[in-house]
Amino acid sequence: MHFATLLLAPALAAASSNIPYEQYILAPKSRDLIPPSVHGVNGSVTRAKSLTQSSGGEAIFHGVSSVTYDFGKNVAGLVSLDVGSSSSSSAFLGVTFSESSLYISNQASDATADAGLDTPLWFNVGKGAGKYTPEEKYLRGGFRYLTVVSNTTATVALKSLRVKFAAAPDQDLRAYTGYFHSDDELINKIWYAGAYTNQLATINPKHGNSLVHLGTISSGDDINLPQTDTWWNNYTITNGSSTITDGAKRDRLVWPGDMSIALESIAVSTGDLYSVRTALESLFVLQKSNGQLPYAGKGFRPSVSYTYHLHSLIGASYLYRFSGDKDWLSNHWSQYKRGLEWAISSVDETGLANITSSSDWLRFGMGAHNIEANAILYFVLQDAQSLAIELNDKTALANWRKTATRLKIAANEKLWDASSGLYFDNETTTMHPQDGNAWAIKANLTQSTAQAAQVSNALKSRWGKYGAPAPEAGKTVSPFISGFELQGHYLANKPNSALDLIRLEWGFMLNDPRMTQSTFIEGYSTDGSLHYAPYTNDARVSHAHGWSTGPTYALTAYAAGIQLTGAGGSTWVIAPQVGDLTFVDAGFETAKGKFSISFRGSGKGVGRFTFVTPANTTGEFVLAGARGSLVSEGGQRVKLVNGKASGLKGGSWKLGSD
Ligand SMILES: *[C@@H]1O[C@H](CO)[C@@H](O)[C@H](O)[C@H]1NC(C)=O
Ligand SMILES: *[C@@H]1O[C@H](CO)[C@@H](O)[C@H](O)[C@H]1NC(C)=O
Ligand SMILES: *[C@@H]1O[C@H](CO)[C@@H](O)[C@H](O)[C@H]1NC(C)=O
Ligand SMILES: *[C@@H]1O[C@H](CO)[C@@H](O)[C@H](O)[C@H]1NC(C)=O
Ligand SMILES: *[C@@H]1O[C@H](CO)[C@@H](O)[C@H](O)[C@H]1NC(C)=O
Ligand SMILES: *[C@@H]1O[C@H](CO)[C@@H](O)[C@H](O)[C@H]1NC(C)=O
Ligand SMILES: *[C@@H]1O[C@H](CO)[C@@H](O)[C@H](O)[C@H]1NC(C)=O
Ligand SMILES: *[C@@H]1O[C@H](CO)[C@@H](O)[C@H](O)[C@H]1NC(C)=O
Repeated sequence: MHFATLLLAPALAAASSNIPYEQYILAPKSRDLIPPSVHGVNGSVTRAKSLTQSSGGEAIFHGVSSVTYDFGKNVAGLVSLDVGSSSSSSAFLGVTFSESSLYISNQASDATADAGLDTPLWFNVGKGAGKYTPEEKYLRGGFRYLTVVSNTTATVALKSLRVKFAAAPDQDLRAYTGYFHSDDELINKIWYAGAYTNQLATINPKHGNSLVHLGTISSGDDINLPQTDTWWNNYTITNGSSTITDGAKRDRLVWPGDMSIALESIAVSTGDLYSVRTALESLFVLQKSNGQLPYAGKGFRPSVSYTYHLHSLIGASYLYRFSGDKDWLSNHWSQYKRGLEWAISSVDETGLANITSSSDWLRFGMGAHNIEANAILYFVLQDAQSLAIELNDKTALANWRKTATRLKIAANEKLWDASSGLYFDNETTTMHPQDGNAWAIKANLTQSTAQAAQVSNALKSRWGKYGAPAPEAGKTVSPFISGFELQGHYLANKPNSALDLIRLEWGFMLNDPRMTQSTFIEGYSTDGSLHYAPYTNDARVSHAHGWSTGPTYALTAYAAGIQLTGAGGSTWVIAPQVGDLTFVDAGFETAKGKFSISFRGSGKGVGRFTFVTPANTTGEFVLAGARGSLVSEGGQRVKLVNGKASGLKGGSWKLGSD
């Protein structure tokens, strides 16, 4: 064998990994990170770049100076410095972090509190050569840029700068169980950035945010540098060894609303349902005797949110759909039912729930017969009926059905605005919110496909230069609510509207130079500035928020069309809506096995379509306009009627002409 061939062998082995499209995965290959490049130097530092090589090097800081390293993507973990020498016992090196390039500084990190900036980590490196690592509570949850600063006249030699990657602690970081590929590279990158965003927001529950400033620093405070060093990630938020939180940098808490997007995107990418389960369990342990579930998990002050209460019920149902774990659902079923009864107790004589708690996803004006809250309640009432049938508990079924039917009629009578093709936020406003309208389609509160299409078109007509507006939250683009809007467009049979919104809004979030080019921000302004209306402190905004990962699930479930209808995928629907994509390969796994599809377009139609579902499952196929038959691997033919076939056995199928 040739010497050159031998050298190539390891690279070939990696390339032929059995993870499809592994080259798009942003998660690092090793948990031992060194920065790949230098972003900038301030003052006199020689050989700053040598620390970007794995062989090591030596960067020399001559007096007051700093170097900003760029990890090339958002990362998380515990930093360590290997110091060679320093010319003075009073020498210090400090470290600051920032997710966005906007907050790179040698004096402070970006923020985790409502006001001010976070203090640097300081090391008294004058004590001598060796490794300096902070206590674990100074693990930083999200940063792309790391600045090392020397604040004295001393000469200091730094031999290495490393970060022990701490996110997704239980995962084999690149062993995704799901994949997505299409002819559109932007769409592909967005799918993987969504998956990675959820990995960064998955943490060791011992490293939740201590929230020491909750209620003590308010957004109006003017805080000057230096601040106190109080950004401690040392509060235990759930049981177990890993959990999903809202965001990597903050809040590092369990938020049920955020999970209604993150959970499904996790299920079709990394498949880390364990981290979802620990999060949901931490919410259910906080249930009050009257059935009310908390606004947020452990660590946050007790408060009521009608919608977030319902999101915990949605989370339990979604987890069951992907895991198929009936024991888990049965164990939480009485809590689920009490939770739903608590929500129903707000339904008044009109048939609509009257909302009295203002807390939601930080939108304004959440009171009265609010359309979003009512659409979510309608969604849960429908979902609850299927779960009750699965668990063979019919006690509340008739009441849930009746409540849902009345609610749908009342919402359309009182809140539908036919002239604009959108629902009003409540009965005393002319404002049409994004959240309630997206949820109205998702929940099937709309009474016909034409009405759903009207809402979809009206939402689309409002898009601005940077995405879909959420007028219920001021001048805000909410990637969270836009995630539900994406699902709404698909459910209204408008796949190109969904793709266009992904390209517009998530394309901006992925490519704008102020972003991390790897994870998705929590929210921003309709004018494209990185100001999120509910906060006054822009440095606090999280750049890795699980609630902004809607495209990952939407593309798998709707563009590729792989939907689980029965627990764990025991029943399924394959209903591709590829829109203008001409090539789609996608799949994911559940405990029952692998689901995948492969689509090749031809002109404006289908050139080739194949799919695989696990043995011992059954399902349906729907592809509007498709003709011919489905042919199984074993030669069974099932003729399509109006583009549909049902009663299909799990296995390998292809679309064939007759
Ligand atoms: C360089 O560092 C000094 C403080 O050491 C700071 O005042 C100045 O803004 C920095 N310059 C840049 C370009 O970061
Ligand atoms: C450098 O920073 C450390 C830690 O904050 C501080 O104790 C020290 O006084 C600073 N040195 C100078 C010269 O500013
Ligand atoms: C977190 O660390 C701070 C500072 O050491 C300490 O005061 C606090 O008690 C710790 N919190 C927990 C929950 O351990
Ligand atoms: C952890 O588990 C224990 C025992 O089941 C339970 O009492 C506790 O409430 C749980 N804590 C959380 C945050 O889930
Ligand atoms: C009704 O909706 C408007 C627009 O969101 C809001 O300003 C108002 O506060 C809401 N009413 C109540 C009672 O919350
Ligand atoms: C909702 O309930 C509150 C408190 O009971 C009441 O003041 C308000 O009028 C109700 N709103 C509607 C639209 O019925
Ligand atoms: C949505 O509601 C309509 C009636 O308004 C009903 O005909 C249709 O079957 C429902 N769709 C689903 C998916 O439940
Ligand atoms: C399918 O079900 C049969 C009968 O229950 C069982 O023997 C077989 O192992 C199952 N196959 C798979 C792949 O789960």
